[in-house]
This record gives sequence, C-alpha cells and structure tokens, in this order.
Amino acid sequence: MPEIFPDLEALSQAAAALLAAQAREALAARGLFVAALAGGSTPARTYELLAHLPLKDRVEWDRVQLFWGDERCVAPDDPRSNYRSARQALLDRVPLPPENVHPIFCHGDAEAAARGYEELLRRQFAGAGAGFDLALLGLGADGHTASLFPGLVPPPGRWVWPVRRMGEDFWRITLTPEVLNRSRLVVFLVSGRDKAAALKAVLEGDPDFPSPPARLIRPSVGEVRWLADRRAAGLLGRKKPAGH
Ligand code: 6PG
Repeated sequence: MPEIFPDLEALSQAAAALLAAQAREALAARGLFVAALAGGSTPARTYELLAHLPLKDRVEWDRVQLFWGDERCVAPDDPRSNYRSARQALLDRVPLPPENVHPIFCHGDAEAAARGYEELLRRQFAGAGAGFDLALLGLGADGHTASLFPGLVPPPGRWVWPVRRMGEDFWRITLTPEVLNRSRLVVFLVSGRDKAAALKAVLEGDPDFPSPPARLIRPSVGEVRWLADRRAAGLLGRKKPAGH
C-alpha cells in the first residue's frame, strides 16, 4: 500500500527526507550513493527541499552519482528537459562535482544516445546484480513511468531504449525495467487526481487498464515504495465509479 499524504508539499517533504536518509545509509555502507532522478513536474519540490537546509547538509554530495530515469531529446536548456528541471531545482544549489552528474544528452541519433548511456550504466554497475541505490520514478495518467509507455515497452536485454511517443516531435530515452529492477529501492511519487485511475490499476489491478507499464517495475531483490497524495490515492480500495 502507498504512504498517503495530505498534499504534494507533505509528500515532497517525506520524499526529500527519504532520499537524504537513503543517501546517508548508502554512503555509510558503501561510500557511494548512486541514484536515478525522475523527470516530470512532481519531483520538483522534492529536489528543492534536498537543495536547502537542513537536508542539503545531510548529504555528502561529493560521493553521490546522479543519473536520469529518462530524458526528452531536446536541448539541455529546453523547458521540457528533465536535466534542466533538476539542474534548476537541485544541481545548481548543491556541491555536486560535475563529473558525478550524468545527464542523458541525445541530439540527433537517439539509438546511439541510448547505447552510449547503456554503456555508461553497465560500467557503473559492473558488479553482479549491482544497480541504483535509489531510483525515483513518477507515474503518468496512462500508467507510464519514466518513458515506458503503453505499447512502447522495450525488448528484454536492453537497459536503455529510444522511444518515439505518438504526438511528440522529439525522441525520448528511457531506462528499462531490466536496469530499474536491479535497484535497491524504487520510490514512486504520485500526485493529483488525474493519476488516481492509473495508481489504482497499478496497485490493485483493473481489467479496463490491463497492463500499465509501471507494473513492470518490480525489483528482483530491492523494495518499491509508493508515496501518493490523497487526491492520487482517492480510488484505492474502492470500486471504480462508472466511467472513471
Ligand atoms: C517524463 C517523466 C514521466 C513523468 C510522468 C509524471 O519525462 O515525462 O519521466 O515519466 O514522471 O509523466 O509526470 P508529472 O510528474 O509531470 O505528472
């Protein structure tokens, strides 16, 4: 069951505290914290809270390695860029060495960008079963996560995959369930009434919503935690009203 919060602010406070605690635990245990950031708008407040006291001083940023769960193939200063969003909310405000930040840059050949990022991740996780200490993910109203959209899920064997979503004039690069399911901890942040049907379908099943891609995220050894606000959790445990 998800942890339910009154609103996005309370959810963000809990998420930021969780990320900082996970970082401290990883650094104490392994001297390194490797995380994948989520895109979209939901995590922005979480990133801001991490970039301010008291949490900012609780993380040894020089031993953090940051990756992205997905990216849109737009310029890094494009408002649609997930890297730009994280840079404005977090990266520009904490002492993270630039060499520890690994954006997904994908100009031109999306397949080449995907393969390049996959090589980077395979080098980072060369040890057997190694994966992210924490992967942060969002949830779309259609049940997508990262850029794993219904009908566009990658074949097995790939860790990073280029995606062209109907109606968008840009490619996307996404991490796949294969690499995300190697994570020690996956944290989903879900906010807003428009996510309620997708969240119900993912957590409780829904014959009308048979296979939301977020259901593919089931770490083989690690844990998944869902942080949702009350509006997003509004349909859980209830019969779906007609037409919802
Ligand atoms: C992306 C995101 C995507 C996002 C969900 C939720 O690049 O679009 O990675 O998976 O997490 O669409 O987006 P919001 O947080 O904006 O609702």
